[in-house]
Amino acid sequence: MARTALVLGAGGFIGGHLVRRLKTEGFWVRGVDLKHNEFSPSAADEFVVGDLRDQAFVRSCIDRRFIEVYQLAADMGGAGYIFTGAHDADIMHNSATINLNVLDTCRKVGVGRIFYSSSACIYPAENQQDPDNPNCSESSAYPANPDSEYGWEKLFSERLYMAYGRNYGMTCRVARYHNIFGPEGTWDGGKEKAPAAICRKVAEAQSGEDIEIWGDGRQTRSFLYVDECVEGTVRLLRSNYAYPVNIGSEEMISIGALARLVIGISGKDLGIRHIAGPEGVRGRNSHNALIRKTLKWAPSQTLEAGLRATYSWIDDQVAARKIVALASPKAARRAAGL
Ligand code: NAD
Ligand code: GDD
Repeated sequence: MARTALVLGAGGFIGGHLVRRLKTEGFWVRGVDLKHNEFSPSAADEFVVGDLRDQAFVRSCIDRRFIEVYQLAADMGGAGYIFTGAHDADIMHNSATINLNVLDTCRKVGVGRIFYSSSACIYPAENQQDPDNPNCSESSAYPANPDSEYGWEKLFSERLYMAYGRNYGMTCRVARYHNIFGPEGTWDGGKEKAPAAICRKVAEAQSGEDIEIWGDGRQTRSFLYVDECVEGTVRLLRSNYAYPVNIGSEEMISIGALARLVIGISGKDLGIRHIAGPEGVRGRNSHNALIRKTLKWAPSQTLEAGLRATYSWIDDQVAARKIVALASPKAARRAAGL
């Protein structure tokens, strides 16, 4: 009999890639999401569309057959979504409700191992003020002071999974993802993160023009390619380590340098204009000593290699949208949500 896995949030970016990975290992996979995948059909054997905030729905899609449960469903987005403040109540309510429902149902039915996707956004704001020396080691999480409500919800939910592990003997694993990017990630519409937003802006621009980036460009981040995120996720779930672990790249870069890298990949001659926008913390980088020690593995791919694949995919999306716009301006406006 095939091993069975459940992927919650399977219609999203990382979930879509994770389902494909589990299929290559021979798993029978049920995917669950509010919506189908946007850019390619799901590889799941069964895909259930529904709302994980609804307890009755959650009960209907989880049973004890599942030896691996991956909980990726959340109300999330990049800086343009989580740092404006406009979505704070929804983010906290929606994601916390999903986690409360899912975890308690997993307890009641008795599933195997459960993975939860937390975020680098849980780290204290004061440790991320120096763009050259951010501290995101796992042990620096407390005293807690995330700079967004999204981060506070993630921290609450991390604690929820840990508490169910302690009190009910459940096997829960928690990763703190650091800005994941790659093909089939959100690239437009307001929830996109910096790598996809910058690839889109570069793909849309003509040589001689400027692209706009938020802030002075000196803020730093690290970005992890989605294949390595999936690899780390699967390894962590199957490991014996029961506390939160960073899954991210240690290749820190300023946002200005990221933009210059993408411009270089495109071969275009573009300038950069700095404009005001939501910025979040000044500096953030994954700290990978713990993952190396516990999993005997850490991400190793260069940022540039991942960006080449991502730019190529987003360039194709931009070109396809232009063709639709030329063929039918009305359909193009509808596709862009206008
Ligand atoms: P995503 O938005 O592409 O995927 C999340 C999916 O959850 C979406 O398809 C969405 O429809 C689904 N969802 C939301 N509410 C739901 C509900 N009520 N019922 C059912 N499905 C629902 O995001 P992603 O980038 O694939 O991220 C996956 C997980 O990893 C999320 O929990 C996110 O917070 C976390 N994470 C991601 C990053 C990153 O850089 N991508 C960084 C840190 C943490
Ligand atoms: N999104 C976006 N779009 N960001 C831009 C842009 C742009 O056009 N131009 C510059 N930036 C800057 C932002 O101002 C921010 O300082 C930096 O690029 C990174 O922005 P994002 O990639 O959107 O988000 P983040 O790194 O602050 O947070 C993301 O990563 C977390 C995990 O590390 C978010 O996706 C979180 O949801 C996630 O948990």
